[in-house]
Amino acid sequence: MQNDIGQAGKTMQTRWSIKVGDERSGATFAPNGALLRIADQRENAVMAEQPRKDATRDVAAADNQEFLHCAILPDSAIRGEAMSFQVSIEPSGHCFEAEPDETLLDAALRQGLRLPYGCRDGVCGACRGKVLVGEFEHGKATPQALDEADRRAGFALFCCARARGDLRIESREVRSLADIPVRTLPVRVQKLTRAAPDVMIIDLKLPNSERLQYLAGQYVDILLKDGRRRAFSLANAPHDDTFLQLHVRRVPGGQFTGHVFGAMKERDILRLRGPQGGFFLREDSRKPMLLVAGGTGFAPIKAIVEHAIAERSERPMHVYWGGRSLVDLYLLPLAQSWSQVLANVRFVPVLSEPPSGLAWDGRTGLVHRAAMVDHANLSGYQAYVCGSPAMVAAARQDFLGRCRLPADEFFADSFDFAADTLEAIDATTHPDSKVDSYD
Ligand SMILES: Cc1cc2nc3c(=O)[nH]c(=O)nc-3n(C[C@H](O)[C@H](O)[C@H](O)COP(=O)(O)OP(=O)(O)OC[C@H]3O[C@@H](n4cnc5c(N)ncnc54)[C@H](O)[C@@H]3O)c2cc1C
Ligand code: FES
Repeated sequence: MQNDIGQAGKTMQTRWSIKVGDERSGATFAPNGALLRIADQRENAVMAEQPRKDATRDVAAADNQEFLHCAILPDSAIRGEAMSFQVSIEPSGHCFEAEPDETLLDAALRQGLRLPYGCRDGVCGACRGKVLVGEFEHGKATPQALDEADRRAGFALFCCARARGDLRIESREVRSLADIPVRTLPVRVQKLTRAAPDVMIIDLKLPNSERLQYLAGQYVDILLKDGRRRAFSLANAPHDDTFLQLHVRRVPGGQFTGHVFGAMKERDILRLRGPQGGFFLREDSRKPMLLVAGGTGFAPIKAIVEHAIAERSERPMHVYWGGRSLVDLYLLPLAQSWSQVLANVRFVPVLSEPPSGLAWDGRTGLVHRAAMVDHANLSGYQAYVCGSPAMVAAARQDFLGRCRLPADEFFADSFDFAADTLEAIDATTHPDSKVDSYD
């Protein structure tokens, strides 16, 4: 075995596919090969299936990220000349495909398999596992995380290792929330994008040698200087984690959200703690999904849909996004592109207060009610609901009570007030002040 090359005995098997495009060209491909060009949509970078190259992890290089154009489908489905290799994991028996230029960890995450990781940079050792059979390269694994003895014994860091043939590897897989460490990390505000008058999209950059492992749909707490915390859902799918993206709605008089819209600047440093919460995609189910978002409740729904797309899930996904008016649906072209390109995704925008005179021939009313009109019987479904407390409560009551959704198939994140805010409200006002408007 050479210094850089791991080898465990099995012959390389190559697969060739036809080159149909360059993943950086701005082309988005439909499953049937049709092409949809989506011009300069920064948000499409968030949908990218292309695992980020090492260079893009670098802060300096990251400055150019906003004009990335990307493919909805995994590159392996569309890109060319590259051969891909089959990798099987023991003891689970799960399999995935790895391109020669992507790390085993990136390839596994891209296909929805949750290998453990920390830094994704060859430093922490969290992704360490064994290659039982096959040829691979160690990449930039550091000696402190993987020494010579480890290498001789067949160990590898999957965040650095690349396949050079079909592989059989041994690795733990993250199976439950308990397997994912909750961490406190500094983040830098990479980019602030005013997506609507009261919605700010914040892209956060972790330190170069850090990554946050989480499940699609989970949230993080932003830690304020005085020890208080504010919860915000992660809007990007876990495999696409060059940046962590938050969608922040300004609440009138809000301490943190007021700061976001007033004083926050790019390059500011924040601290977060996460991942948090039990709202995440249940991947062990094959049931069709009803996904209902109100306002910035779109953030975790987006993460879930993009994750399901990345792992090429064929589960039907019925996505409903509600706002008062069109401006509240701040990433409408992105959501529409899902259903334009993928047959198993249906997207329905719903406005509760379309202004008179607006040329809106779409659905109107409460977003969960619109979903109920189309899905009167939810007995065979899973529902993922996210938004204001009033919306989540109404959806729970109606989906379970009137549409026969099983109680254990209802998953929700209610965008409630922070605990300290609630205490302050309880101390000074009556409980009715907690009633949120429901789009
Ligand atoms: C699990 C979870 C995930 C969340 N994810 C998101 C997200 O992705 N995007 C997002 O925009 N929000 C999200 N929220 C809501 C968000 O945490 C609050 O809006 C935020 O804490 C407000 O902080 P603040 O310091 O600006 O307001 P505060 O200073 O705490 O409150 C000031 C005033 O604002 C009002 N207020 C506070 N919170 C809310 C609220 N949630 N709704 C209505 N009025 C409020 C109250 O009247 C309060 O008196 C989430 C909440 C939870 C619990
Ligand atoms: S060494 Fe840290 S994730 Fe691989």
